[in-house]
Amino acid sequence: MFPLIRNRRLRTSEAVRSLVRETLISPSDFIAPLFIVEGNGVREEIASMPGYYRYSLDLLKHEVRDLWDLGIKSVLLFVKVADDLKDNKGTEAINPDGLMQRAIKTVKDLVPEMYVMTDVALDPFSSYGHDGIVEVGRILNDATCEVLTQMAISHARAGADMVAPSDMMDGRILYIREGLEEEGFINTGIMSYSAKYASAFYGPFRDALDSAPGFGDKKTYQMDPANRSEAIKETMMDVEEGADIVMVKPGLCYLDIVRDIKNEVNVPVSVYQVSGEYAMVKAAAEKGWLDHDAVMMEQVTAIKRAGADLIASYFAKDVVKLL
Ligand code: PBG
Repeated sequence: MFPLIRNRRLRTSEAVRSLVRETLISPSDFIAPLFIVEGNGVREEIASMPGYYRYSLDLLKHEVRDLWDLGIKSVLLFVKVADDLKDNKGTEAINPDGLMQRAIKTVKDLVPEMYVMTDVALDPFSSYGHDGIVEVGRILNDATCEVLTQMAISHARAGADMVAPSDMMDGRILYIREGLEEEGFINTGIMSYSAKYASAFYGPFRDALDSAPGFGDKKTYQMDPANRSEAIKETMMDVEEGADIVMVKPGLCYLDIVRDIKNEVNVPVSVYQVSGEYAMVKAAAEKGWLDHDAVMMEQVTAIKRAGADLIASYFAKDVVKLL
């Protein structure tokens, strides 16, 4: 009781504050997302994501080397696909010589220890910009799971360590797990986007990959931002189906969900701090309205404090450089 107890005692110096700090950020907390394009010598800045780039495979190597040297041990690969390769079947997604498959090999050849995760979803490959196969305006569930399974197997074959289905079809974790097992990829993991919300924060990402939905929205498969218990249900199902890591996405607006899930499951929980979250900080900092580094550190700390074991973030490199 006051005045015997004074909470400010443990705040009197940085030394004591660091001794009692509950949440520490380290390079191995991060998964760095990477955007990859065809070509040579390409390093194009994404207009709505200042300081973030799409790389061709040759320049991707420098970036991967940089990340590894900084202590970042995992990357999450996304590819931007030319319009003429997009269709309604995911043909290019399962092409053994596709950009994703070549990117996986490029990273593994360069830094074999780097833990390579890959995006498994049809939207970058879809002529409709949807995460599933479209039939008269509807997104087919089971037919999509079949293609996602083929896609996951082709990533595993190319050398991916873990596949990350970001589509939100029902049952896709079970489909993919069984497919990987049948092909002998028993150590290829699955990080499931388990509680992925139909969020407006994905806008800049869709610019980065030119993957915005051609009609409608994603509300028939991604979750309603108003729902909380449903996130637990989704996540528990993914764990039962064989997910090694589960994910909540986006980050900041959903930290209550992160804590709920952390309390509920016994697998690692990851959080995706998404493109819109990144863009907001960059924009406000450009205007001189926020202290970029301080806000960035506060945000990743909050995500970890809420219960994230891992954070997929466009800030990964910036954060680690500051540590
Ligand atoms: C799509 C996918 C999206 C993101 C990752 N995978 C966008 C979407 O669902 O439309 C968003 C990531 C971000 O905004 O940073 N499968």
